[in-house]
Amino acid sequence: MANENKDKVGEGAFGLVLRTVYEEYDAMVKVPRLGDFFASHFLHEAQVLRYLDGAGGAPRLLHLGPPEDPRIFMTSAGSTTLQHLLDEEALDEQGVVQTVLSVALRVQEVHAKGVVHNDLKADNVMVSAACDQSGLHQVNLIDFGLSTFTREVERPQFELHESYGDCSVMFEEGDPANDVVDLGSMLKEALDEVCFLGSEEALGGALATLMEAMMRESASDRPDIGEVILSLQFLVGRGKS
Ligand SMILES: Nc1ncnc2c1ncn2[C@@H]1O[C@H](COP(=O)(O)OP(=O)(O)OP(=O)(O)O)[C@@H](O)[C@H]1O
Ligand SMILES: [Mg+2]
Repeated sequence: MANENKDKVGEGAFGLVLRTVYEEYDAMVKVPRLGDFFASHFLHEAQVLRYLDGAGGAPRLLHLGPPEDPRIFMTSAGSTTLQHLLDEEALDEQGVVQTVLSVALRVQEVHAKGVVHNDLKADNVMVSAACDQSGLHQVNLIDFGLSTFTREVERPQFELHESYGDCSVMFEEGDPANDVVDLGSMLKEALDEVCFLGSEEALGGALATLMEAMMRESASDRPDIGEVILSLQFLVGRGKS
């Protein structure tokens, strides 16, 4: 079981996330900021994490606490958030392309499993401290508390599942275009931090055009995540002088 010796690593509107030890391993625990009021949201998030089984880089569920003390024990998804990288202005022009592409690929993984995230923002994307062989930081999606399904899937059941009560509101059908518009906002935020000058002007223009298409008001006018990925892949390596 869990050791209660914890340090805060982050907080959001719903939860406080603390470093902890679970069955002798380093882990994270998300506890609600509003007591057990949102217990059913925690049940939902735990179900989605178990169902995703690491798709999208999502943390793996280790344990879900009982409804009177709802808490999610999960693996760590990274050391810092994409928001932190943006605030630090740590990304250059190609950094923006590669990072948004990495996030888009993660989004495609969860869409392929019939899950729409619905709350994509730079705070909900974790970035690893280390780089992979291609020199890229690994990105992982977190915070699936508002996610929905695009199709009926078999949802994991837990001990004490019934006592959590009804959370059917979370099971409305999801529209993957919600994640495209949110990824467009993330791209917009990243573009606002970078100045595309000289040989990079064309790259900046292409990214701005893509961002506008992703943020179109009508969901059916937006590119799907596969098209976004193809556009970004085309732009990788472009604009370098
Ligand atoms: N598995 C994890 N590994 C590392 N850090 C995490 C993990 N889960 C959450 N965090 C950190 O805790 C913060 C809050 O977690 P989370 O986004 O799940 O809470 P929330 O209250 O649902 O957020 P929101 O306000 O977006 O609804 C994250 O922004 C991140 O910094
Ligand atoms: Mg969050």
